Amino acid sequence: MTSAEHFRKEFPIFQSKIQLSSCSQSAMHFSVKNAVNAYLESWEEKGMDWHNWMAACENARKLFARQINAAVDEIAIVSSVSHAASAISTSLQPADGRNRIVVTEFDFPTIGHVWRSAEPQFTVEFFEKNEQGINDCSDYEQHLPDDLLLFSTSHVNFYNGYKQDLQRISDMVHRKGGYVFIDAYQSFGQTPIDVKEMDVDFLAAGMQKYGFGIPGIAFLYAKKDIVEDLTPRITGWFGQANPFAFDIRGNDYAPATKRFDSGTFPMINGFAAEAALTLMHQLDMPTVERHLEKLSTVAAQEIEQAGLINRSPFAAQEKGSTTAVYAENASEVEKLMAAKGIIVSARNDVIRIAPHYYNTSEDIRTAVNELKKSVKKGSTTS
Ligand SMILES: Cc1ncc(COP(=O)(O)O)c(C=O)c1O
Repeated sequence: MTSAEHFRKEFPIFQSKIQLSSCSQSAMHFSVKNAVNAYLESWEEKGMDWHNWMAACENARKLFARQINAAVDEIAIVSSVSHAASAISTSLQPADGRNRIVVTEFDFPTIGHVWRSAEPQFTVEFFEKNEQGINDCSDYEQHLPDDLLLFSTSHVNFYNGYKQDLQRISDMVHRKGGYVFIDAYQSFGQTPIDVKEMDVDFLAAGMQKYGFGIPGIAFLYAKKDIVEDLTPRITGWFGQANPFAFDIRGNDYAPATKRFDSGTFPMINGFAAEAALTLMHQLDMPTVERHLEKLSTVAAQEIEQAGLINRSPFAAQEKGSTTAVYAENASEVEKLMAAKGIIVSARNDVIRIAPHYYNTSEDIRTAVNELKKSVKKGSTTS
């Protein structure tokens, strides 16, 4: 596998800036830029190139499936993680007296919005986060209700980077007879995901965060033996067994999870996704994860030495790449940092330092050093 040092050289931004914002937007690899340009050029030169545009999206689906160890027909192409969750929330039916959906409160808000929109058909409950902004996985089992239909949580937390053991969660939920829905947007691209080993039922991820891609395309995994009992309510011609049957009166859903495809694929986004996933496949995910654990340790030490408040006080193995630093006026600090050429990501009251395989310990030191000044400035000007 390519070394982290060599990998970094393939991202033009590092010639002039330090990008540490992979929890929001990872850096642009030259191959992803070339892919987007290739789409535009084919449009300009050929006028229309439907076959190759479709092929790029289908190849992205295949590469995503391989990345999470799923079969290709267990993946739907959707436009966002919100779309993926909505596809499942609208197709599930209460069954065998089960209609309760439990959502971890620390999830990204869109997940709560989606499940709440399914009320009153379902009873939606939130599993409250503790003072550290997390849930202790061992608490789940005793609090999961007997009429559980689905448990929804994230793999890596968007705010503080806390990482959960998905296999353990799936075991607990399945013992209760429910399904597991995982929002993997913050873990995809930075840690290994194996949906078979982890035994999750549904999983959604997009390309923009640690995925080296852009928004506008996301993927939904749904286990084959569950999904054929689900009738899509968000649908369209691409979700049909034969989109070109052109039978306006009938619905004949595609086999397995492809039934959750809907309209024409977001093709330019598909080009970017194909290149980003090809790049991801060149990386060994356990090596990427170890690199990021090392950077997490550096971040924790630097934050402590700088006298800043670490909102991700977890051991490196209990977290993903993101480390959150408390900043009362985080969005202002983000702008001040950007003006210095350091790209970090504000969320509520924290600045997230979110390195990827292309980042170094020196990047973290430089960022925390600057952050120390910016947070001070921010506090005095707020
Ligand atoms: C964990 C997580 N889930 C979901 C979303 C929202 O995804 P989308 O805009 O694709 O619906 C985000 C966005 O930051 C996120 O971090």
